[in-house]
Formats: sequence, C-alpha cells, structure tokens
Amino acid sequence: MPTILVTGSSGYIGSHTLLELFDSRMNVICIDNGSNSYNKRVYKHIGKIAGKSRISRYSLNLSTDKKELDEIFDTHAIDYCIHFAALKSVGESIDEPLLYYQNNLLSTLNLLECFKKYDCKGMIFSSSATVYSPNQQMPLTEESKVGMDLSNPYARTKYFVEEILKDYCKANPIFKCIILRYFNPIGSHSSRTLDENPKGIPQNLMPNILQVLNGDDEEQVFNIYGNDYNTPDGTCIRDYIHVEDVANAHAKAIHKLTRMNETDSNCITYNIGTGKGTSVLEIITTLEKCTNKKLNYEFKPRRQGDLGVVYCDNKKAMKELLWKPKYTIEDALSNYK
Ligand code: WQD
Repeated sequence: MPTILVTGSSGYIGSHTLLELFDSRMNVICIDNGSNSYNKRVYKHIGKIAGKSRISRYSLNLSTDKKELDEIFDTHAIDYCIHFAALKSVGESIDEPLLYYQNNLLSTLNLLECFKKYDCKGMIFSSSATVYSPNQQMPLTEESKVGMDLSNPYARTKYFVEEILKDYCKANPIFKCIILRYFNPIGSHSSRTLDENPKGIPQNLMPNILQVLNGDDEEQVFNIYGNDYNTPDGTCIRDYIHVEDVANAHAKAIHKLTRMNETDSNCITYNIGTGKGTSVLEIITTLEKCTNKKLNYEFKPRRQGDLGVVYCDNKKAMKELLWKPKYTIEDALSNYK
C-alpha cells in the first residue's frame, strides 16, 4: 500500500480527504501547522470517525521548516503527496501579498525539493476555481483561460504553483501530478465535527451564514453582497459541491496517479464541481427549508472581486477519474440541521 503525505491535513477539505484515505486503508502521514485549523480537535474527531487510535502527524511550517520537512521524508518512504496546505483568504491576500507568495509558493518549492531528493512518485495539488480569468463563457472547462486579470494574490499563488508544477513535470517526466481545481465546497461529514471552521474571520458563504443562523444574537444579520447581478434573482451564482464529493475526488485521483503511464501526460488538471450553478438566495431558501430555520439577511453592495456567475464543466474529471458527485445541494445543506 503506498504511503501518502497529506499537507494541510487538519483543514476543511484535508480532514474529509483523510477519512477517504483511511477508508481505502492507505498509509498516511499528516502535516499541518494549525495556522487555519484546530489540529488536536480535528485529529481527535478523525480518529474517532475512522476508528484509528493513532494518526502519524507532524506540525511544521512547510515554507520555513525545511530541515524538519527533510527529516520526515528521510523517516518515511513517501510515495505520493496531497498538498492542501496554503493560506486561502482572498481578502487577507490583498492586504498581505508577500505573506501569501512566501507561504504558498515556498511551501510548494520546499516539497518539490524533497520529492526530487527522495524519489517521490507524484502529487495532487489543491488548486482553485479562482485561477480562471474573469468574464469567460460558462461553464468553465479545464481549457478556459487562466492566470490573466485575477482579482487577488491568493488566486495568483494558485496559478503560479500550477505553472511551477507544469515546468517541474516537464523536467521530470517520471513524476506524476494531478491538479484539482475546486469550485465551492460546502457541507460536512454527518458527525458535524469537521465543519468548515477557519481560524479568524471567515470569508466564505457558509461559515458566515451559519454564524448568523445559529448565533445567539437576534440582531445579527447576514450580508448578501450584491443583488444586482445579471442572474435570475440578482445574486451571485456559484458551483457548490459537497465536501465529501471533493474528498472522494482525491481518493480517485490517487488511484489514477498510481496507474498513470508514459502514454498519459504527467501533469493533468481537473475541475472539481457539480457542473451546476446555484445562487446565494437559492442557497439561503434551501437551507431554511432543510433546517426549518429563518435566516436574517439584508442586501449590501457587491464585494470587490466577486464575479456574477461561476460554475464548471466537470465531464473530464468524471470520465478520467471515474468520479461522480453523489450529493445534492439539499444533502449538503441538510448537514447543517
Ligand atoms: C460565494 C458567494 C459572495 C460571503 C471561493 C472562496 C475562495 C476560493 C474560491 C478556494 C459570493 C457571497 C459570501 C458573505 C455573501 N476557495 N457571499 N456574503 O467568492 O466563490 O470564492 O472560492 O480556493 O477562497 O472564497 O466564495 O464563499 O467567498 O462567496 O453574499 O458573507 O457568496 O458574494 O457570491 P467565492 P465565497
């Protein structure tokens, strides 16, 4: 059984992916510096759900702790890596671009140096729909334009890492890389112990909605950023996908990595989304129905950098990864009962 290193393992998508890997009896080594997640608590829940008394895990900063990272590769014969670890707040990246370039780029470069030194076979990179250039025809395919006119440094770090990986794969043809571009993950494991729970002020839709929906402060109101977009109800449309479907895509991608041969390109990109768009208001009305709760909300001006409509064509991932999203929006939102 291959040994998989998972960076960012206690994050929202990383933790759900660990459950998939444990399910497939993979030998997993975890790294997370806890900068955006609650390591101890998450590993405890994962261990309980997966029935694992012990999870091999390290806490280090991939962008600065090169010696410690090398020791992990020297200790464990790592075959593949799933690289989730990154700073991911769009707003914070605009205020702190250097922090984002140093962290997100250096962590990947340090990993690639270890892959080369220790002959790792391949990696899966956690990329994002934000690498797509704005104002393109929907649905976005893997061939849609990327990298140009991106609205924030976070998105640019994801695009730059994709380009670094393509160059690395060209120079190292036996190394295999799969890039997964996530659209909008929502929902959580039925235990409700792995909800998206970032440290600091959340930016994403669901953590903000849940803060108001489940908050004690009756006065608190959820802000919908813009209701004057060119969409049926005026609010933004996104491709929301259950996080467990995203996690399953990683298990399918690892399976593909171990079977990629010379005829395949050694760096392949896939959209991970449902292929359907849902508006903010549709999310809210569906959530209210699923939870039988009422959300206090009001419309605010548009948020800088937001696009009106973003959703993907996921046929390539379904065909080549033998992956298919199995949960609906209602399934994901019913998790929040
Ligand atoms: C979705 C919609 C907002 C919050 C995301 C992540 C980004 C990256 C790519 C991983 C938008 C609206 C939100 C709120 C709102 N993820 N909204 N009120 O913008 O598609 O980007 O995907 O790489 O980190 O942010 O997702 O969840 O921020 O917003 O009205 O309080 O919800 O305007 O239309 P987005 P989001």
